[in-house]
Amino acid sequence: MDLIKNLQWRYAVKKYSDEMVSEDKIAKIEEAINLTASSCGIQPYRLFVITNPEVRQRLAEGSFNTQIHASSHLLAFAGLNRTTSNYITDYVDMMEEQRSLEKGTLKEYKDTLIDYFSIQTQEENVVWSTKQAYIGLGTALIAAAELKVDATPMEGFDPKLFDEVLGLSEKGLHASVILSLGYRDIENDYLASMPKVRLPINEFSTKIN
Ligand SMILES: Cc1cc2nc3c(=O)[nH]c(=O)nc-3n(C[C@H](O)[C@H](O)[C@H](O)COP(=O)(O)O)c2cc1C
Repeated sequence: MDLIKNLQWRYAVKKYSDEMVSEDKIAKIEEAINLTASSCGIQPYRLFVITNPEVRQRLAEGSFNTQIHASSHLLAFAGLNRTTSNYITDYVDMMEEQRSLEKGTLKEYKDTLIDYFSIQTQEENVVWSTKQAYIGLGTALIAAAELKVDATPMEGFDPKLFDEVLGLSEKGLHASVILSLGYRDIENDYLASMPKVRLPINEFSTKIN
C-alpha cells in the first residue's frame, strides 16, 4: 500500500534544500487540510501559508527550529480564541446554503452550539480549537507524504511572536502549531539516513475482540 510506504518515507526534516514546492502541491495540501474533520463540523481554526522571507526571518527569532525560515513554505495553524455566536451563526448559515437547505432548517443545531460554547471559558475554548488545529496538522503530514513533499511539524516556536507578526489577535486567533514544507537536504540532514523509531505494533495497539 502506497500510503504506508509514503508514511515510512516521511520524517521530520531538520535541514531543507533550496528547492521550492510547486504551488499546485501546496494547493493540494491546503485543500486536504480544509477537508479535515472537525468537532461540530465548524472548522475552528485557520491556516496561514507563509513564504515572505522577511516575515519568516522574524517568526524564527528565538527558536531553535531553522526550518521556520529555511524551507520552501511555512504553514501556521491558528485556533479561534472564542467560538462566538456570530461565528456559529455564519457557519451554520453556510451549511444551509451549501446543502441547499431552507434558511432556518438548522436552527436547533445552531442554538445548541451557541448554548454549548457560551458556557465554555476562553481557556477551554482555546484548548478545544487548538486540538482541532492539530487534526489539520495530521492531515497535512499525510497529504505532504502522499505528494512526496517533506514536512516538519513544530511546537518549538514563540506563539506570542506569531500572534504579533501575523496579526492573529486582531483576527480572534492564536498560533497553535506550525509545519514547514520543502525538500530534504539529504547530504546535510543527519536524520535523512536514520531508520524510523516506532513501537512494535502489538505494543502500540491493543485489539479488544
Ligand atoms: C506536534 C509536534 C511538534 C513537534 N515539534 C518539533 C519541533 O519543534 N522541532 C522539530 O525539529 N521537530 C518537531 N517535531 C517532530 C518530532 O520530533 C518527530 O515527529 C518525531 O521524532 C517522530 O519522528 P518522525 O516524524 O521523523 O517519524 C514535532 C512533532 C509533532 C507531532
